[in-house]
Amino acid sequence: MATRKRTLLKIIVLGDSGVGKTSLMNQYPCKKFFQQYKATIGADFVTKEVLIGDRIVTLQIWDTAGQERFQSLGVAFYRGADCCILVYDVNVLRSFDTLDNWHDDFLRQVCNLVLILLFACPLIVFQASPSNPGIFPFILLGNKIDVDGGNSRVVSEKKAKEWCASRGNIPYFETSAKEDYNVDAAFLSVAQLALEKD
Ligand code: GTP
Ligand code: MG
Repeated sequence: MATRKRTLLKIIVLGDSGVGKTSLMNQYPCKKFFQQYKATIGADFVTKEVLIGDRIVTLQIWDTAGQERFQSLGVAFYRGADCCILVYDVNVLRSFDTLDNWHDDFLRQVCNLVLILLFACPLIVFQASPSNPGIFPFILLGNKIDVDGGNSRVVSEKKAKEWCASRGNIPYFETSAKEDYNVDAAFLSVAQLALEKD
């Protein structure tokens, strides 16, 4: 019997505090949802194996802190990332407006890590992705679409898709961590995208 190829993908989840990053990660591998909010401090990861074509892909999904005072703790974990998931809350305009910062800061931080490694140890630099930040894979999730039956949303799907188009055609998914809507599809697409850019 032919053995399947194995791939490990490191995925970083970013976005404002309270948008539902931890909830999405609890829902995806564990099918759990907690109503009560507990702020993430630093960073933590979960893993899930998916089969894509002939490959067994292990997704190592890193949850980070959205609260400003904890954000710097998460940066250290960006090294070696294969894909970045940006999350905003469709009911909170500010969480959409800060996407530019999350996107640009992530690329800046990863580029800085590459530069530091280049000076410290030129051999290790080849392990630090992205090698080309211009094509680094991002995905955007508009979460909490269940709230108030959609009546309290302030960011339209059209507006979100326009932002994605302006950032190099980032794939976009609308999700509900609470109702487990589109969560599997979003994470699967992350794996496919990261493999394509591999
Ligand atoms: P930080 O750890 O501070 O960065 O926040 P976070 O982005 O991890 O948010 P978290 O997942 O902790 O969710 C914040 C609150 O929103 C919690 O009370 C969740 O129960 C709630 N929540 C998360 N996702 C959804 C969703 O899809 N729908 C609804 N109705 N509530 C959600
Ligand atoms: Mg959290």
